[in-house]
Amino acid sequence: MYDLIIKNGFVVSPSSTVKCDVAVNGKQIAGLGTYDVSEGKRVIDAEGKYVLPGVIEAHMHCMAPFQGCLGANSFYEQSVSAAFGGVTMYMDFANMSKGDSPFKQALARADEMKEAAIDYSVHGKFVESTPEAMADIEKMADYGIPTFKMFMTYKKEGVMSDDETMLKVFQKAKEVNGLPMVHCESNAIAETNIEKCEAAGDLSWVNFAKCKPVLCEAEAFARAAYFAEYVGNALLVVHTTNGEALNTARRAHGKGLPIYVETGPHYLTLFDDLYEGENGHLAICSPPLRTPKEAAELWEGLKDGTILLTGSDDCTFDVDEKSMFLEKNPDGTWKQDFRKVVNGMSGIEIRLPLLLSEGVSKGRISINKVCELTSTNIAKIYGCYPQKGIIAPGADADIVLVDMEKEVTLSKDVLHNNISYCLHEGFKVKGYPVMTISKGEVIVEDGEFKGRKGAGEFIKRRINPAYLKKYSLN
Ligand code: URP
Ligand code: ZN
Ligand code: ZN
Repeated sequence: MYDLIIKNGFVVSPSSTVKCDVAVNGKQIAGLGTYDVSEGKRVIDAEGKYVLPGVIEAHMHCMAPFQGCLGANSFYEQSVSAAFGGVTMYMDFANMSKGDSPFKQALARADEMKEAAIDYSVHGKFVESTPEAMADIEKMADYGIPTFKMFMTYKKEGVMSDDETMLKVFQKAKEVNGLPMVHCESNAIAETNIEKCEAAGDLSWVNFAKCKPVLCEAEAFARAAYFAEYVGNALLVVHTTNGEALNTARRAHGKGLPIYVETGPHYLTLFDDLYEGENGHLAICSPPLRTPKEAAELWEGLKDGTILLTGSDDCTFDVDEKSMFLEKNPDGTWKQDFRKVVNGMSGIEIRLPLLLSEGVSKGRISINKVCELTSTNIAKIYGCYPQKGIIAPGADADIVLVDMEKEVTLSKDVLHNNISYCLHEGFKVKGYPVMTISKGEVIVEDGEFKGRKGAGEFIKRRINPAYLKKYSLN
């Protein structure tokens, strides 16, 4: 007798879509094949549905003090919203200031995440390369935290890693089979542009995007890629927005260099015209939203394998936090000053729907590709495969059922993220998760959350060294 049988669905992996049943025992997948309904304590009829490995979110910032703000969701609330989007594991970053121990901060973060209803992990973060900080890298890798994040900008916020720190972290990460993750934006280009806007007295939302143009990102991307090549270790570049940066990745991939590239669904579906509106500050994020041209370049990158990962970079700030340092003009409009707006936007719940709809339903990518981009590749590169990221015997029974016929109009009212607006308000999607299963437990069903606060477990990660030596996740 199995605890659960999911019958008649199309089971999706990166390489196949097979109509079969999935049997679950306890927290794990027991087998794939044909099972009689009498063999299951519970049987779910998935006829016509797609059965994918649970989505993994490896890029979010929840309850993370940044630019004077904290975020609207607790970790539990974030896990509920995530679950409605098919997410069964999420990862956040240690909060770091100079002088902090990266290892201690990572452990503290893991402790905060204990209330999650889904499994979780943490990335280390580096803002300096003191001997103490460098010594923590090995401790973190031993503990199951082999990923180390750095920002190439945000100097004024005190979280930028300078080039020397980056190089040292790259070198040390190599020794421990670790993976550096980098936010690529040239602080020099961004800051000098911002100074010019200050001098001209124009700090409008539109100018925010102009201060951080494609080359601001591409220069930093190239620098980070050369550092990785010089050190001879892999690199993961988060939230890439444009073809110029992708061409650097392509050159590296041509030499077999493992530069792994992530993009986010907002860069595929939202554009910089949002900054022209009165409430354009709600769309301020770094790197900024770009134009449809860059979005088309990203779709190419997804198709040709230059981009292997997606992440939402979720920062769920409500209007009050996005606006808290702004003043108003006498006519009630915002006195636009992009320096006073926290960077980041919400997205954890809509990553899968947007990729299903804009990707699969519109014929740009296959559902197998979506499986890779939201789950399998994330599990592999971040070091939790095959426990996560695949529907196979022995893997955790983290599963999302998708109805490719389901149409939803995105709106603040259909999402579960504790904020009062949605940047995709009115955006129609076709293809939506309809059931989420976490370690064998149904946690979202019929539009209701059925999970439990604190049910999530910390997942220790270890990266396959082959992925760090050569650009391939096979
Ligand atoms: O605008 C963003 N992305 N804010 C969050 C921090 C980061 O850069 O990822
Ligand atoms: Zn970033
Ligand atoms: Zn981020």
